[in-house]
Amino acid sequence: MKTILDGKGLKLGLFAANCSSGLAVTTAPERWSGSWADNLRLAGRAEEVGIDFLLPAARWKGYGGRSDFHGEVLDPTTSGAGLLARTTRLVVFSTVHTAFTHPVAVAKQLATLDQIGRGRAGLNIVAGWNKPEYDAFGTDLPDSHDDRYALAQEWWDVVRAIWTRPDAFDHDGRFFRLRDVEGLPGPHDGPLPVVNAGSSDQGLDFATRNADIAFTIVAGPEDGEAVVRRLTDRARRHHGRTTRVFTPAHVVCRPTRREAQEYLHHYAHDHADWDAVDNLMRLQGLHAKSFTPAMLATFRSRFAAGHGTCPLVGDPDDVADQVERFHRAGFSGMTVSFVDYLAELDYFAQEVLPRLHARGLRTSA
Ligand SMILES: Cc1cc2nc3c(=O)[nH]c(=O)nc-3n(C[C@H](O)[C@H](O)[C@H](O)COP(=O)(O)O)c2cc1C
Repeated sequence: MKTILDGKGLKLGLFAANCSSGLAVTTAPERWSGSWADNLRLAGRAEEVGIDFLLPAARWKGYGGRSDFHGEVLDPTTSGAGLLARTTRLVVFSTVHTAFTHPVAVAKQLATLDQIGRGRAGLNIVAGWNKPEYDAFGTDLPDSHDDRYALAQEWWDVVRAIWTRPDAFDHDGRFFRLRDVEGLPGPHDGPLPVVNAGSSDQGLDFATRNADIAFTIVAGPEDGEAVVRRLTDRARRHHGRTTRVFTPAHVVCRPTRREAQEYLHHYAHDHADWDAVDNLMRLQGLHAKSFTPAMLATFRSRFAAGHGTCPLVGDPDDVADQVERFHRAGFSGMTVSFVDYLAELDYFAQEVLPRLHARGLRTSA
């Protein structure tokens, strides 16, 4: 059993540390560099304090603005190889776009990651939504989610077959016609745990059919509870599977609630990069279903603070309370992101992780 799927306690990961600015759309000078050196230091620190996993974002273009939000992004697979080689406990996901990468190549790259990490690699499958990235690849973003997820399904079927079929095989599908396919060595420890964050009907069907972990953006634990129930029921009833549900959040944790609110105001209001926020929200609204129209109408400041993810803002008790509410709503895991991951992780680890442990939410801390 992969540790990330063992069902023991709430799993905690760091999201988007491979991207400049992480999830904070800000010009604040202390914003995250996303550099290799900082990512390597962060991974070491993350496993020391008991973080379970790293989830990188795959991005091929920045979002502009004064900060050029996500203008510098490390490739998840190759940086993941370096991180897995230099750590011993962390699970490191790679995030891969099905439209931009060939499944035969990806099966080998990710199996190699898992060999390097001795069973600690994971795969986040992205069916694609961001038109400027398709333009950069010289390929069309299909208008219909049916077509995007049909490709994703065939792509994943090929990757999985390479990892699980004992012999070479042919594949004749709508998108791939492949002859005598093989790909040894396979993963170190069986197929990699799969994450998917599809949100449309087609995306939810893909996630519940294929993913071990469905990642979903919610407004908070209140609406999250129904989302978790819908996803887990759908996985069980339609596909006879167990799909766990995780959600991303951004954290501002300070000794007092007032200090946390002041810091939030500093980076996500005084130094918000509104041009990048508006560009990001416009693109999200055009082709992705991660955010409902109601969220896109009201979440502008939440996008500046954390790319539209849920805020965990306050003193350590506040933050622990909010994490606990997500857990009680049925979430099996969360990612946390910080303006400066390295500078802020230690305080979170010192003050919040022991509180979660004391409340029985975490088995390690
Ligand atoms: C936690 C999380 C991580 C994601 N990572 C990426 C990513 O790295 N790159 C990307 O292009 N899209 C990413 N997405 C977008 C989703 O894969 C998905 O395309 C999006 O939520 C829209 O869903 P839909 O395709 O069903 O409309 C992510 C979404 C979430 C919630």
